Amino acid sequence: MPLMEPYRIKVVEPIPILTRAEREAAMARAGYNPFNLRADEITIDLLSDSGTNALSSAQQAAGMLGDETYAGARSFFRFRKVVEDLTGYPHIMPVHQGRAAERILFGAVLKPGDLSISNTHFDTTRANVQLSGGTAVDLPCAEAGNLDSRDPFKGNIDLAALEAALAGPDPVGQVIMTVTNNGGGGQPVSMANLAAATELCRAHGVPCFLDAARFAENAWLVIQREEGWSDKTPHEVARAAFDLADGAVASLKKDAIAHMGAFLAIRDEALAKQCELVLTATEGFRTYGGLAGRDLEMLATGMEEVVDPDYLRSREDATRYLGELINTVGVSIVEPAGIHALYLNAGRLLPHLPPHRFPGHALATELYLAGGIRCAELGSLYLGEEDAEGNLVKAAPYELVRLAIPRRVYTQSHLEYVAEILGEIAKDPTSVPGYRVVESPPLLRHFNCRVEPVRD
Ligand code: F0G
Repeated sequence: MPLMEPYRIKVVEPIPILTRAEREAAMARAGYNPFNLRADEITIDLLSDSGTNALSSAQQAAGMLGDETYAGARSFFRFRKVVEDLTGYPHIMPVHQGRAAERILFGAVLKPGDLSISNTHFDTTRANVQLSGGTAVDLPCAEAGNLDSRDPFKGNIDLAALEAALAGPDPVGQVIMTVTNNGGGGQPVSMANLAAATELCRAHGVPCFLDAARFAENAWLVIQREEGWSDKTPHEVARAAFDLADGAVASLKKDAIAHMGAFLAIRDEALAKQCELVLTATEGFRTYGGLAGRDLEMLATGMEEVVDPDYLRSREDATRYLGELINTVGVSIVEPAGIHALYLNAGRLLPHLPPHRFPGHALATELYLAGGIRCAELGSLYLGEEDAEGNLVKAAPYELVRLAIPRRVYTQSHLEYVAEILGEIAKDPTSVPGYRVVESPPLLRHFNCRVEPVRD
């Protein structure tokens, strides 16, 4: 079937189209940090696929049915039923977003000095492990180290390394399997890898949780790529993944195709009771957890919609199509294309820029200057380490740029526009300047720093 979005549009929002001079002024004002741009300065926003999705008419209608009763709202019971059917877990807590679920769960599970092991911790996940006194250790599979290889499951965990860590001298408090692996090029995790990892955890008495923000997208890629799963529905595959684990945190700002919300879902009753206490103290009573009744309704409907094979097929097709266009204009991506985002290999496109001139940031900035496209660097500005004088002393392993694709928001022609702008940049890459940091806060530098272009 040719590419086609399986929905039509009934509400539209104009997108700003600026001149190059206006974009240059906006970027200068923003300290050349895309996080400081304002929405009315952005033409295509690929900064995040989180909370940036388009609601369906069914979700809007469900929102109108939202029950705003303080405790015991009808909307909670509907939400709980949908999450129960999806996960099979008996204890389900709504929270306002994924990182709240992480904070509550890790606070209950981890003891100071514990290791948390993952295929790759997302950055808030890592931060919440650290806030709970733990140490986050990423053990991505070896295939993930080759950006160009087309292995189908580069999001997997390294099973031999996991086994060694579980048998090692340091206590392991938990294992977190991130599906799909956002910090690892958006690559999926296979069911075989998940089964083997959870078995190792069981053998060592260590709980294994899913970070299931993109549960449906991972399930879809399993159906497409893994032997033995092609005749299953996305709901069945997602359920089989949850069945393997002891619980899950899931930011629903992604695969519930909504704007806000998450869940914490757990099998063990004693652990759930402990989490519920903190939930009530910090998020809200267990039947709303920081969300309005209308949010719970829209999330429930979104979780039903996201497992539609026609929707998932079109999303995978659109991302792959953009990946192919990008390859055609001469830019490399982390292969193979995933589903929620593409990761551009900026280091390869801009070899004239060393890591301390931040090639990923340079490409992200250029995409905005050339076409009003906003996206984020995942390279040495984000992951590098500096000395006291601000000199880069440790570069990131790769200089990448993430193009995250909001759900149901952009059409095929928007994606073609992105590839075209990238093609213009790729025609003359040496004209792209590097950057140096002029102002850097002590924490979460990439969100708040200011940089300036340099040509040296
Ligand atoms: N886990 C993963 C894998 C995520 O991608 C995110 C958020 C979170 C947890 C945290 O969830 O934002 O609801 O608190 N990722 C967004 C992104 C921000 O752009 O990738 P949250």
